[in-house]
Amino acid sequence: MRITVTVDGTTYSDEVEPRTLLVQYLRERLGKVGTVVGCDTSNCGACTVHLDGHSVKSCSVLAVQADGCEVTTIEGLARDGQLHPVQRAFHDNHALQCGFCTPGMIMQAIDLLAEDSDPEEQAVREGIEGNLCRCTGYQNIVRAVRDAAHEMRPGAGPEAERVSEATMGTQAGVHRS
Ligand code: FES
Ligand code: FES
Repeated sequence: MRITVTVDGTTYSDEVEPRTLLVQYLRERLGKVGTVVGCDTSNCGACTVHLDGHSVKSCSVLAVQADGCEVTTIEGLARDGQLHPVQRAFHDNHALQCGFCTPGMIMQAIDLLAEDSDPEEQAVREGIEGNLCRCTGYQNIVRAVRDAAHEMRPGAGPEAERVSEATMGTQAGVHRS
């Protein structure tokens, strides 16, 4: 089947098998290896991306289901050499150790903050409960998400205005294969 999907601001048109998972398409066809596979059973959240602005576990979505949609991966967040505020907050708060969970955790955190711009600690913990981290104990992850919320708050400066832009790609060309 042929699908057309915009990923991190670039539009691709590709033939895929109906059984191809979105995460397989992203990694193996497009080379978006920043999106990782931790379990393949919809448990760990490491594969989380945004599909039309909402987080999904890309191991539980078929590539054909993304036809006509806009996908944002961890690789599409930074703009003009500047990390997304959530990426920077993870860095500044040492919210990772091995880093395997981090791409999915950040994508989930951005979706969480789109729903609740100033979440309490418990709300952060509930918002990321579908994303597993085997290293950090979550404390610094929660701190990072709350720090990012403060930085992204309206009126917090130019970074605040990058929030929605960072999850919205722009079409910059069509790739066919
Ligand atoms: S690889 Fe998708 S949830 Fe674990
Ligand atoms: S930092 Fe290692 S799994 Fe989260």
